[in-house]
This record gives sequence, structure tokens and C-alpha cells, in this order.
Amino acid sequence: MDLEKLRKEFAARLDSVRNSNDLEELRNDYLGRKRGILTALLKEIPNLSPDQRGKAGKEMNEFKRLVESELEAKKSLLEQPAKLEVTDWSLPGKEYHPGAAHPLTIVRRRIEDIFREMGYAVAEGPEIETDFHNFSALNFPPDHPARDTQDTFFVDRLEAGPEKRNCLLRTHTSPVQIRTMLQHKPPVRILCPGRVYRRDEIDATHSPIFHQMECLAVDQRITFSDLKGTLLHFLRRLFDADIELSFRPTFFPFTEPSADVSVSCVFCRGKGCSVCKNTGWIEILGSGMVHPNILENVGYDSEKFTGFAFGLGIERIAILMYGIPDIRLFFQNDVRFLSQFRVVL
Ligand code: DAH
Repeated sequence: MDLEKLRKEFAARLDSVRNSNDLEELRNDYLGRKRGILTALLKEIPNLSPDQRGKAGKEMNEFKRLVESELEAKKSLLEQPAKLEVTDWSLPGKEYHPGAAHPLTIVRRRIEDIFREMGYAVAEGPEIETDFHNFSALNFPPDHPARDTQDTFFVDRLEAGPEKRNCLLRTHTSPVQIRTMLQHKPPVRILCPGRVYRRDEIDATHSPIFHQMECLAVDQRITFSDLKGTLLHFLRRLFDADIELSFRPTFFPFTEPSADVSVSCVFCRGKGCSVCKNTGWIEILGSGMVHPNILENVGYDSEKFTGFAFGLGIERIAILMYGIPDIRLFFQNDVRFLSQFRVVL
């Protein structure tokens, strides 16, 4: 009896089994009580000589177990539902949308990082402000046009009358100067980012909600040259370019002297282009030396302490840095716009 041949034959037969009928036939051919090959062979074993009997019996029984287990395995394979085993590599993959920071967040953080290196802290204040913090303490006279309902969103009921109005949506981040100084003794070095509100008609360059960044430094012997040096360092870092600054006298109630600051155009390097409207300069922020009245309003000694301050619009910086054509894009949350700013959170 050639066991090896037997095994090969069985393997070949098993291989050609396609369905349960084939399988039943194979089982009968090997294990059937009447005509099974193995059944017949096993019956022969007692007739073998005693020295062959043990070995052959062992081998035949092993083979029988193999046949049984292979038939079982094939049976469960045939019973499995038909499965699609082909992978279609041409199918589109799953798109991966990693979160990213909003362009206004990117700009705010860049500014904060530059000032943190210089020892400034970030301070925040409420968006619903009092008239005192938003106007009075900042030296706005009672008849200042910004106090008009045409420019400012008042939160109080309108029938309260002009003299009774007190709560409003802050029109700038400058009230955070007041809140910080009321809470902390000098020296103070802070940066105040935040949302501000004005009653503007919406168009490509105006939005009733936008963001500002306020800066305030109060200490002994702070001068206008500290303001100039700080701004030059800050704006060169922000635009990553060797820009120059231009200071033009202006008026703010809370600073004296006050200056509108322009940077030499980062796009044409002062030669003249559409962004700087051929002037070579881009106006970027308002600034000045803190008015002594402000220091006195918060209980600081204006003989001993001086300070500088400035405020800028974050949208305006982002528009310049990224060449964004319309301020409304910041607030529409269109993924096609936002996904272009790939700074991961
Ligand atoms: N608060 C001003 C505005 O909203 C901006 C500003 C100008 C802030 C001069 C300042 C400053 O701190 O010194 O237009």
C-alpha cells in the first residue's frame, strides 16, 4: 500500500470539489461503508502480518483522520457565502480633512507670539461694555460722534434716552486698557485681542463685527521712541520684511500725541502698486502716548508714569498678508476658503 500516492490522489480529488454533491461523492469514495477506499484498506489491516500491523494501523488511522478533517474544512468553505475577494484599487480613497486654524486665529497668534517674547501678557475683556469703560474713561467727550446710536450698538432699551444709555457692544478693544489698569498697578504690558462691533453697512471692506488687537505699555520713563522701536520690531517680524514706518499726526481722545502708522508697502517695496494705491505706504494702525487723563481715571500717578498704546484691525492685517479680496470671506465659513490656510491647530 503506497500511502504517499493515496494522499496525493485524495488531495487532487479534494481540489476538484466544486459543490456539496462533489464533496458527498468524495466522502463516499473514501469513507463509504460499502465502497470506501479507506474502509476497505482498514478492513485489511487485521490480515497483515503482526510486525506490519502496528505501523500500518497507525498510518492508516492517521490518514483517515486527515481525510475527515479535510472534508470538514472543505464543507465549511463551501457553506460560506460567496465573498468578493478582489480589491478594486481604482476606487477613490477616503478623503482626509484635518482641522486647521482660521486665518484670523493664525494672525492673532502670530501677533501674540511676537509680543509674548517681549514680556507682554494677553488680557481680555467683555464684549458687552459699559459706557464708562468704552468711552468716558477713555476721554471721549459726551458729544463725541462715536457715542451716537448711528455708530454704536446700544444694548439698553432705546426708550431709556441718550443720557441713560449705559450698556453697549464694545466699539474697540481700548476698554480692556481701562479694565486692566483698574485691576493692576503699573508697570503694565498687555495685548488685548477681541471682537468689536460697529453699525457699519456690510460690504467688501466693512463688517459690523470685526477683530482688533490692542497694545498698552505703562511704566516709568516710557517715551515715544519706545513706541516707535516696539512697532518697528513687531511689524518687521509680522511681515517678515525690512519695512519702514511712517508716523502721521492724528487725533484720538485717549492718546496725546496720537499717530496713524503706515508701513512701507510690502508688495511693491515703496514703488507704488494697487494695494498701496501708488503711495508706497499702507496705513496699518492707530497709536499714541497714553493721555494723562486716562492714567488719572484709573488711579495712576500721571507725573510718575507714562505709556504708549496702539490698536489695529486683525482682518486688515490678514487681508494684507494673504491678499484676501473681501472681508466677508472671514465670516462665511466656506470650507473652500478656509482650507487654504493649512496651519494645523
Ligand atoms: N481704538 C482705536 C479705534 O478703534 C484704535 C486705537 C488707536 C487704539 C490709538 C489705541 C491707540 O490704543 O493708541 O479706532
